[in-house]
Amino acid sequence: MSSTSIDSLLHENRRFAPEPAFTAQANATAELYEEAKADRLRFWARQASELLSWHTPFTQTLDWSNPPFARWFHDGRINVAYNCLDRHVEAGNGDRVALYFEGEPGDSRAITYAELTAEVKKAANVLAGLGIGQGDRVALYMPMIPEAVIAMLAIARLGAIHSVVFGGFAAESLRARIDDAEAKLVITADGGYRKGTVFNLKNAVDAALASGAESIQNVLVVRRGENEVDWSEGRDLWWHELMAEAEPEHEAEGFEAENPLFILYTSGTTGKPKGILHTSGGYLTQAAFTHKNVFDLKPESDVYWCTADVGWITGHSYVVYGPLANGATQVIYEGTPDTPHPGRWWEIIEKYGVTLFYTAPTAIRSFMKIGREVPNQYNLATLRVLGSVGEPINPEAWVWYRQVIGGGRTPIVDTWWQTETGAMMISALPGVTTAKPGSAQVPLPGISVDVLDEQGAHVGKEAGGLLVVTEPWPSMLRGIWGDDQRFVDTYWSAFEGKYFAGDGAHLDEDGDVWLLGRVDDVMNVSGHRLSTMEIESALVSHELVAEAAVVGANDETTGQAVVAFVILRQRMVGSVTDEEAEAQLRAHVAEQIGAIARPRKVFIVAELPKTRSGKIMRRLLRDIAEGREVGDTTTLTDTNVVASISASFR
Ligand code: WT7
Repeated sequence: MSSTSIDSLLHENRRFAPEPAFTAQANATAELYEEAKADRLRFWARQASELLSWHTPFTQTLDWSNPPFARWFHDGRINVAYNCLDRHVEAGNGDRVALYFEGEPGDSRAITYAELTAEVKKAANVLAGLGIGQGDRVALYMPMIPEAVIAMLAIARLGAIHSVVFGGFAAESLRARIDDAEAKLVITADGGYRKGTVFNLKNAVDAALASGAESIQNVLVVRRGENEVDWSEGRDLWWHELMAEAEPEHEAEGFEAENPLFILYTSGTTGKPKGILHTSGGYLTQAAFTHKNVFDLKPESDVYWCTADVGWITGHSYVVYGPLANGATQVIYEGTPDTPHPGRWWEIIEKYGVTLFYTAPTAIRSFMKIGREVPNQYNLATLRVLGSVGEPINPEAWVWYRQVIGGGRTPIVDTWWQTETGAMMISALPGVTTAKPGSAQVPLPGISVDVLDEQGAHVGKEAGGLLVVTEPWPSMLRGIWGDDQRFVDTYWSAFEGKYFAGDGAHLDEDGDVWLLGRVDDVMNVSGHRLSTMEIESALVSHELVAEAAVVGANDETTGQAVVAFVILRQRMVGSVTDEEAEAQLRAHVAEQIGAIARPRKVFIVAELPKTRSGKIMRRLLRDIAEGREVGDTTTLTDTNVVASISASFR
């Protein structure tokens, strides 16, 4: 975020006090903060016991004897899938709809808790029949369809570990993730719908398996797109065929609270994505607690919709685990917001009477661009809480969201968290907090954060610094898959005993937190995290490229956009025009990583600005990419470089 936008954020003085009528019925109360402050561990122990059902109750809340490796509720035993399914049926809520699935072409299915439980039991038997058991890794590469949720829960039910790879990632990204986790099985679909056409997922799985992924024994394929797929006899199996023959009964066994639940890869500052590891009891406790209180969920009457794909952490915690643990009724939607028309999301809200809605600022900004005329055509009066996640939400988008989507009535919760934190960490509580547009505001009850200067001292009020979490929390990552050292180095070595989040933050005069974006070489494009290094490695793997530098430039809609600066290999210079090189390289990045990483712009340059120690000066490149006058260049080795670069794209 540029310094001008930070300034305007901090001059945001609008305040929105909770409506008394909302407060009167709210799940959350100000006492939660008091309770957690008095005894944080007791507070979390109460949440874990009250929100979840344990096969064996825990007697210890936190074991922090070997920091930063935490164990929460570790002598308790729990089955995550049982908590999301069977217990709701046993409590008499089997007829409640768990999922309203809306396919992009307009097909729909309502699946009750009883039906979802039955499907997951069968799927667990199918997977067990394929040799999947506790601790085994299963990769998922699926569209946003009910089978993605069913597969995740079936894996969890067996005590196995899922690794969901977003369906928009390329075959090579899938291969790298399968190899890192040594997954035994991959579950995919023939295809899924996006922007009105079927995209073939199975092809990408075949390509991944052709270039590695040797740990994979079987490919389980859900039929969705009905598109043609290649078939490898013996290896490939149809989901519907195995499900038709599967035994219906499956008893959920209790596993240790620290049994791994999933690995989810996220970009870091190096070229290699990190496999973020989450476990069971603590993760589910915080996912359920935050979902219940931050959205004020009333499972008997609310219809909740989170627009995230299950390929991201938001889809894990706030489509699958939090809502289902709480017995919520929710919508899942397969496609894009503007297919077949720009009002599709609002049409879905009207159709299902959605009451609680969770999406990303980038989506809100793109709807702002289209104009309020589109949402105004739909009845959105059922909405009562709106959530935002993924990047800072600028006050204008916040206010538009509240006025146009929320009818000027709904509380807005801006929720700060990360793949690593597993669940929400900083957010207003509806009915309790007086909202400030643009600020995530206060740590949730039981969560302790601080903003520090580079020496590790608290910055005080009306000052900026680095965001840290100062105490372990139940849904914290337990490590990076296969790389304990990287876990320690990345998150726990900047400040002794504290978790360094990688975000800059400002504390205002009330001590409320305003997030200012990443302070490392991680970009945030449409709320998705991308590594500059990862894209640079993809670029230099192309035969045209000698050297590459990537920056995230401010973008009105997507937050940041990927902009690349590339030096061509000497022998390639003149063999292509700059336009041809740009087109080839944009396509190459999309093919290597996925379409979300495709640079908006590739500048072909003769030199890159570097410091005397050889570090690329990304700040300067960002200035250039955003069309600003270049800043301080005193540490540059060759001050002419900047002039020649800027000149080359005027
Ligand atoms: C990064 C984490 C959390 C799920 C989606 C992204 C940024 C996230 C906010 C927010 C300001 C936010 C941070 C964070 N971020 N939510 N409400 N306000 N920034 O998960 O891919 O792990 O990315 O997203 O920079 O570090 P992720």
